[in-house]
Amino acid sequence: MSALAPLVRILRYATDPIAPYSFNRMGFELNRCGFYDDDLPVDVKGRVALVTGANSGIGRAASLDLARRGFEVWLLCRDGARGEEARAAIAREASSDRVHLAVVDMSSLASVRDFVATFPKERIDVLVHNAGVLPLEKSLAKEGVELTFTTNVLGPFALTGLLLACLARSDDARVVFVASGGMYAQRLDLGMLDVEPAQFDGTKAYANAKRAQVILAHMIADRVGGAAPITFASMHPGWADTTAVRTSLPKFHETMKGVLRTAEQAADTVVWLAASDRPKGTHGKFWFDRSVAVEYPFPWTREAKEARARLFAFCEEKSGVTFPTAEGT
Ligand SMILES: NC(=O)c1ccc[n+]([C@@H]2O[C@H](COP(=O)([O-])OP(=O)(O)OC[C@H]3O[C@@H](n4cnc5c(N)ncnc54)[C@H](OP(=O)(O)O)[C@@H]3O)[C@@H](O)[C@H]2O)c1
Repeated sequence: MSALAPLVRILRYATDPIAPYSFNRMGFELNRCGFYDDDLPVDVKGRVALVTGANSGIGRAASLDLARRGFEVWLLCRDGARGEEARAAIAREASSDRVHLAVVDMSSLASVRDFVATFPKERIDVLVHNAGVLPLEKSLAKEGVELTFTTNVLGPFALTGLLLACLARSDDARVVFVASGGMYAQRLDLGMLDVEPAQFDGTKAYANAKRAQVILAHMIADRVGGAAPITFASMHPGWADTTAVRTSLPKFHETMKGVLRTAEQAADTVVWLAASDRPKGTHGKFWFDRSVAVEYPFPWTREAKEARARLFAFCEEKSGVTFPTAEGT
């Protein structure tokens, strides 16, 4: 372990509310000085991991790392050709014959249901909700809810609920939402889903969806409670040089490209949350670079309890998937 490790951890604890200084590549290099050497690898042979949006960027890097560590990895991708290219490359690079592709469109609840109905494994140990979009124009997903929210929130909500029994068969399951520091300035606002196309702000819609993911990690963890040994978590990967950033935020990419993280650096905490013993048993927390991160650096972004309840009820209604109540009934 680096001699600097305790100092770096104290620094992070003290400065987390202004964490954007560390979203870039230098931040990762600094924060990794605080990592515990013995966190990874762990013995994961035989464990099964599902990663959505696994054919590029952070999801692909996480999938490759998980495959290299011995996970059986299922790549959930919306495009069969892009997915197969990634599957073959990851299998080759990880020297694994246990990398599989499933074609799943996370913006379609029907597609999510079809996948679950045909998924052949009885037990799942890791579910990574990585697929995400940041469209600049408003559009609706197949079932009628705004596309950003459906892809980032409703699809993952449904997939988690429908796979709950498979996750519950694991002795140590992990569910990870890949959220974003972009949510920091955003208060949860379901009303945003109904704005007119002319008023639509893609960056805000994205931040709102990521805020919802972080809230849902807590709420689903509360609902499932002690009924199953499942660790729910959300995280943000920092700023990474990926297709999404290049296409959805071209000006940001042009300005920042020299200091953006690699997809592998951005995927580090995803893999750590999936494989390390350290976060085991934590309850819906939000993580950044292997540490718990602040969720509300700005007090005005904290939603009311009623807004959280409305979010959960909305997701249950629109997805048709329900979770146990907090009382376990
Ligand atoms: N890069 C960053 O700086 C950053 C920062 C904060 C959060 N994130 C989050 O990190 C996650 C991964 O993004 P990335 O940066 O790695 O970008 P990326 O390389 O563009 O990856 C996004 C992945 O999501 C997939 N996807 C999109 N819509 C989908 C759908 N409906 N069904 C299934 N898969 C779908 C994409 O598939 P296609 O290839 O078919 O489009 C792609 O594989 C996202 O949730 C993003 O919001 C990224």
